[in-house]
Amino acid sequence: MTASGRPGSAIAIESLQFSYGTGPRVIDIPHLEIAPGSRVFLHGPSGCGKTTLLGILAGVLHATHGSVHVLGHDLVRLSGSQRDAFRAEHIGYVFQQFNLIPYLSAYDNIALPCRLDARRRARLGSVSLDAAIRDVASQLDISALLDQQSTALSVGQQQRVAAARALLAAPDLVICDEPTSSLDTDRRDAFLALLASSVARANATLLFVSHDAALGSRFDVQLSLPTLNRAARADAA
Ligand SMILES: Nc1ncnc2c1ncn2[C@@H]1O[C@H](COP(=O)(O)OP(=O)(O)OP(=O)(O)O)[C@@H](O)[C@H]1O
Ligand SMILES: [Mg+2]
Repeated sequence: MTASGRPGSAIAIESLQFSYGTGPRVIDIPHLEIAPGSRVFLHGPSGCGKTTLLGILAGVLHATHGSVHVLGHDLVRLSGSQRDAFRAEHIGYVFQQFNLIPYLSAYDNIALPCRLDARRRARLGSVSLDAAIRDVASQLDISALLDQQSTALSVGQQQRVAAARALLAAPDLVICDEPTSSLDTDRRDAFLALLASSVARANATLLFVSHDAALGSRFDVQLSLPTLNRAARADAA
């Protein structure tokens, strides 16, 4: 896989359009550029396409119109397996539905990205995988839960396991889809502090979606998806 285009941007979108099958257009963004190291808060009403956009940026969904450069790679031109490899190496993703593997323990869920991808694992440097897992688990207050099967965890506990998995081994781009929706205030603030320190240490770019507009002021940039979306602008006109 070769890097191409826009090396100066973490994310660069041109003329991006996406629909699910023959359904209505969900994403129609003429242009968007996000500088490396930015901490971006993305908001918009339920159903406006936030999760869809995150899925495209992570290569989970494949857009066929326009260009989507993430960390210099045009995801539109990559095959499914190339996008999977790219995501495994570079992206930490806290999914809105967590996507934990039900038959694995919390520990094994957190370990998964590093076990599946040697280049992601190499980002740990001289730190062992076990030490890295125990460190991130301690910071998210889930040390006592590591041996539990993920289905035996509360929703807020699952959310923190998903966050630990995403942050392990310093990804270049951290994508969080409603990562604090099930957390109490203390745990939400602990997660946000860990997120801020992790992305700063790795000089990573952060894309954070939340319905909690009050969190927006903690980020460098606030983006409204309906404003980015050409279709939404046309509707409002
Ligand atoms: N797998 C899918 N198949 C078909 N349509 C989908 C699919 N996933 C989402 N959609 C549709 O795409 C639109 C955007 O959905 P999306 O999940 O991206 O919204 P969202 O902004 O993340 O909403 P929320 O804030 O509720 O999480 C919605 O109209 C939804 O019905
Ligand atoms: Mg969503």
